[in-house]
Order: sequence, then structure tokens, then C-alpha cells
Amino acid sequence: MGVFRHPPAGREGKAFRDIPLAECTKANTRMKNLGGLIEAKKRGEQGPERHHNPYLDEAVGLGEVLVTQEELLARFPDRLFSGDPRPKLIEIGCYLGKNVVEFAQLNPHIDVLGIDITYKRVVKSARKINTLGLGNARIGICDARVLVEHAAPASFGGVCVFFPDPWPKKRHVKNRLLAQEFLDTLRTRIAPGGFFWFKTDSLRYFEDVMECIAEGGWSVSPADEVPHELTPSPYVTMFEQMFLSRGEPVYRRVFRPTEGARIEDAPKI
Ligand SMILES: C[S@@+](CC[C@H](N)C(=O)[O-])C[C@H]1O[C@@H](n2cnc3c(N)ncnc32)[C@H](O)[C@@H]1O
Repeated sequence: MGVFRHPPAGREGKAFRDIPLAECTKANTRMKNLGGLIEAKKRGEQGPERHHNPYLDEAVGLGEVLVTQEELLARFPDRLFSGDPRPKLIEIGCYLGKNVVEFAQLNPHIDVLGIDITYKRVVKSARKINTLGLGNARIGICDARVLVEHAAPASFGGVCVFFPDPWPKKRHVKNRLLAQEFLDTLRTRIAPGGFFWFKTDSLRYFEDVMECIAEGGWSVSPADEVPHELTPSPYVTMFEQMFLSRGEPVYRRVFRPTEGARIEDAPKI
């Protein structure tokens, strides 16, 4: 795994760009088996008592709507949804699924995939999709780093990362999702003409992401531009609503790959 470039002058200590990706993904050790308990239950196996999780039975019952990391990697992009292949919108860190549900309802011409890493959140998200009978929405219990690493080039029509955990303490910065190597890989997974829509309340995180983006291969929207492809646009997320109602600033940009993916006919939204 490569090592990130040096931090900008003037910053003390080890900045996130210095940290090898392998060290950034300690959480992956835990994540490798993401959804493993669901898979064991589907096979009729009993999980260890200490892993008792009140959401497990419901997770299994949600069938195709809620997929494990392993299922997602095997089926994405063309075998995850039924019907003809269509553009894919991915929300990384979908929380309780509000954005996934609303984008799927209002954009019936696309498929919407939300991923998150906690059982409770993915079950609650998938429950909403199931109740509404939305055929163009799926939830994966999956680490974004794993999906992005394994996804085929140009297989994402659009990607949303709204209010990722900011890890404000310097010693925790290595846990952030959005860093140079992740963004470089993400760029190649987005179809030509597709987008990466980012929002955060953390100025420091925003500035660090802008520095990574400035390394090249992306175009950057003006401050309040939103992806014109989606309805509704503009769109206010649950967390965004919370920050705005407190009068706190929200930093947003739409990035579009200018190089990376080169599959001319890849589906875009
Ligand atoms: C603050 S919440 C997102 C809020 C929501 N997007 C919104 O705008 O209303 C951040 C979410 O990211 C999830 N998350 C953290 N690391 C992740 C990872 N590596 N892959 C996928 N989801 C992750 C967390 O579990 C959490 O639900």
C-alpha cells in the first residue's frame, strides 16, 4: 500500500496524508466479517451468545433488500437489483436510510444503494425500503473502503458522502474515511460524467478533502452547486437540517472526475 504525500507545511505532527492506508483501516479487521452473522443465520447456524444482536433476525428476514458485504461484493453492480442495468447512486454512511429512500422514490430511473457499518442502522434503513416496496433501493452492511476497493471501474453513477464522522482529534485523524488514497480510488470508480457529492460541518475535514482533490483528476463545483441529475436538488439531509437549524455552517461541494475512469459507455445518472 502506498504512503500518502507529505502534509502541507506548517502543520505539526503526523498529518493524515503521512499515514499508510493499512494503518488507516484498522477498523477493517472488524469489518472483514461485516454481515457474517447474517450469513451464518441464513445458513441456519447459531451465532455465539456474546454476539446476540436484537436486529439480526430482522436483518435475515429483509432478504434481498439488505445485503451483507460479501453478497454486495459478489453482486455489485449488475446483480444487485433486478431488471436491466441502470445508473447506480451510492450513499456511503446512509445512517437511518432517509436519503436513500427519498432519492429512490424521487428518481425511479436510477438504482440507489446505501451502505453503513452498523446492524441497527442498516436494518432500520432496509425496513423503510421494504415497507415502501421500493424496488430500486438496497442497503448493504459494508465498509465503504472495501466496496470502493473492490468495485469495477466506472461502476458508480454518483456517490454521496454526507457528514462522515469527522474524527476531530489529531490522533484520530487516521480513522477518517476521506483521505488521498481513498479519493484517488473512488475517482476511478465513478463513471465519466458522474459525481461525488460531499457535505460536512467540519471545516478542518473540508479543507483536508479540498487539498486531496486539488492533487488532480477532479473538477470542483462552485460552493452551492448541487448535482443537477438528481431530484430533489438541492437536497437537505437529516444531519444537515440539524446543523442548519443550530445556525452552524455546512460545507458542500460536487466533485466530478476529469480523469480516471475511461469506460465511454458506462451508465451515468
Ligand atoms: C453522521 S452519519 C451520516 C449522516 C447522514 N449521511 C446524513 O447526512 O443525514 C455517518 C455514518 O457513516 C457511517 N460510517 C462510518 N464509517 C463508515 C464506513 N467505513 N463505511 C460505511 N459507513 C460508515 C456511520 O456508521 C454513520 O452512520
